[in-house]
Amino acid sequence: MDHRPIGVFDSGVGGLTVARELFRRLPQESVLYVGDTARVPYGPRGAEIIHRFALELAEFLLARNVKALVIACNTVSATAADAIRLRSPVPVYDVVAPTVRAAVQATSTGVIGVIGTVSTVQSGIYETLAAQLQPGVRVLVQPCPLFVPIAEENLARHAVARLMADEYLGVFAGSGLDTLILGCTHYPLLRSVIGEAVDAVVGHPVRLVDSAAPTIAALEAGLTAADARSSGPARHRFFVTDASYKFMQVAQTILDRDVSTEVAPLRLSAGGVGWG
Ligand code: DGL
Repeated sequence: MDHRPIGVFDSGVGGLTVARELFRRLPQESVLYVGDTARVPYGPRGAEIIHRFALELAEFLLARNVKALVIACNTVSATAADAIRLRSPVPVYDVVAPTVRAAVQATSTGVIGVIGTVSTVQSGIYETLAAQLQPGVRVLVQPCPLFVPIAEENLARHAVARLMADEYLGVFAGSGLDTLILGCTHYPLLRSVIGEAVDAVVGHPVRLVDSAAPTIAALEAGLTAADARSSGPARHRFFVTDASYKFMQVAQTILDRDVSTEVAPLRLSAGGVGWG
């Protein structure tokens, strides 16, 4: 039994799609969530900056005595997971490996699409992991950078979302893919528009695989194996580096509840992050 909280972090609100699954599947667990809303998006940035930001957030959570870290961001998982693991005294769960495993199991045609941020796509991690798990599988990747600001601005139902989905996903025409990885934790917010656009492009239903369920299944297995589950009661805190009202709006959409009393500011300083 371990009653310490679980640290979950992302560049912004997207990681809440992973936290939502954690709340659903492990309701006795307390969560400390960090959304770096002042510096989102991470996706267009270089690896060195992403490393720095990610380590700051991880260290903030580790200093609060978490029992595990969940990197609820594909961009950070793809570029900095190893660096975080090297520094973390507690287990670190990323959103990439469990999702690739789920997609490889799901595909019948052996053709998997991956959409993500520029940085995630450039990392090549999906192709590498898929080839290790199932040699011969084809992985087609496509960056969709504007999906992150569309999600952060709560515009998933606006026509701009469909316009960009048609633009980005047109690349999969004639590819034979039957499985599409939502390789960014913001993208489940655009799930229906992405699903409609990709089905229309390839001409048959495509299975969408997002990171939340496989990642939280891995976390649950890890906590259980280590006898580190909590019996509750759960208490959650959400730390944001900027504009908490915007975060609260999108959080309400994702979590279907008001989190305003649980949100706290996290001040960015020259040396990293600190209490606000
Ligand atoms: N949720 C992050 C991810 O999964 C968004 C990346 C960004 O900030 O650009 O990659």
